Amino acid sequence: MHRLAQLDHKYVWHPFTQMRDWLKSEPIVIVAGKGAVLRDMKGREFLDANSSIWTNLHGHNHPRINAAVHQQLKKIAHSSALGFANEPASVLAEQLVKIANPKLRKSSGLTPSHSDRAAGGASPPLGKVFFSDDGSTAMEVALKLAYEFARRNGRARPKFLSLGGAYHGDTIGAVSLGHIDLFHKAYRGMLFKSDSVPAPYCYRCPFNRAKPERADARGYRKCQWECVRPLEQKFAAQKKKGNSYAAFAFEPLMQGAAGMIAQPEGWLRRAAQIARGHGAQLIADEVMTGFGRTGTNFACHREGVQPDFLALAKGLTGGYLPMAATLTTQKVFDAFLGRYDEFRTFFHGHSFTGNQLGASAALASIGILRGEESMRARRALEQTLREELAALWTLPNVGDIRQVGLVACVELVRDWRTREPFDLRERAGIRVCEAMAKRGVLTRPIGNVIALLPPYCTSPAQARRMVGALYEACIETFDS
Ligand SMILES: Cc1ncc(COP(=O)(O)O)c(C=O)c1O
Repeated sequence: MHRLAQLDHKYVWHPFTQMRDWLKSEPIVIVAGKGAVLRDMKGREFLDANSSIWTNLHGHNHPRINAAVHQQLKKIAHSSALGFANEPASVLAEQLVKIANPKLRKSSGLTPSHSDRAAGGASPPLGKVFFSDDGSTAMEVALKLAYEFARRNGRARPKFLSLGGAYHGDTIGAVSLGHIDLFHKAYRGMLFKSDSVPAPYCYRCPFNRAKPERADARGYRKCQWECVRPLEQKFAAQKKKGNSYAAFAFEPLMQGAAGMIAQPEGWLRRAAQIARGHGAQLIADEVMTGFGRTGTNFACHREGVQPDFLALAKGLTGGYLPMAATLTTQKVFDAFLGRYDEFRTFFHGHSFTGNQLGASAALASIGILRGEESMRARRALEQTLREELAALWTLPNVGDIRQVGLVACVELVRDWRTREPFDLRERAGIRVCEAMAKRGVLTRPIGNVIALLPPYCTSPAQARRMVGALYEACIETFDS
């Protein structure tokens, strides 16, 4: 075994990994990357088909992001945001506010009901940026702000609602909002209680009367939007108890770790309308969906929804460095203002908040993202993926193929005619990913779902190789 692999086996504990299985074989040790390609210590090359767990946007070793980080390194790597401002973080905050506030349709009624006013005129709805380190902390910040904002506005015990199957990170607040038993059940004793409503999962929706077809279930579903009713009922029931929900947290358009569950067009708009109608704030977790991953800068914008909190991480720095941001409104910000001795301060922060290297990478990444070339490439890649994935409908163990922008997934089933799932213990997803790795394509399963989130620089030939490897891996896994 390679010396580096030995060191890993001896000392490293990997996330979300059964280490007994891990220790059975030599791990792939990544030593370099360029564009969509990762290279390991043995010189083997692999396509990074999930953008290094959904973080990388423009490819590895991107000259513009490299240059931005090098430039910043010559000045300073880090100084504290506790007590000092810094150049890249201030500029980045301005850029984030710009891209997080598109002009929404006036009639949508989904912008915050209050009028946000800053000194000197109207401010955009999401006008304030709180930096932190990763997706979990971005959500933790949103939660704490929403909680305290609600408390300061007269709700004694603010409560939260989130979606069935939700995953918002691994810190205690984020886990409290989560509803994946496999990950979260063990910690219930440490958590605060949050409620859930079923996510709109057309492929497995109890209200969808359509028989399985060889197409994305969102397109052929037969229903009357019954999935929205539990949401209305939940809000109404909570109101009756005299303690309306303080906030509704959701991933817009696509719920990632839940199994890449894509929402039917119009669901988010309806859900947001109900939540706003009941006075709840909206917490949009765009840790996975943000920064062009789902087509627009942010997924919320596709449905004309402007949240009160926008949690960003993963792609913020183009997948280079751990950095996160929680955007919120002037109204929330104002609730924390006061004389020093009133102690209304938001008592929360991290040592690396507003880190200069991360902010420099993020500025370069946003610059690339906004360029015509990137937009064209993303549209073309989305189309290539769609066309290539169509071939997988011929496979009997492919139940559903879902794609939103550059997030695509295949749900594996025992038989597409019955939608019968594989038991998790059969490790169907893991086996398919192992067979893909043998073909030089790396991704990670979510149970029985295989996700493809290629870097935006992926060429048509590389996209074809990714999907081709998935196709062959399914045949190898299920025909044997
Ligand atoms: C939607 C969503 N929110 C939050 C998180 C947590 O992010 P992190 O792993 O950076 O803490 C993730 C991670 O996968 C995520 O997908």
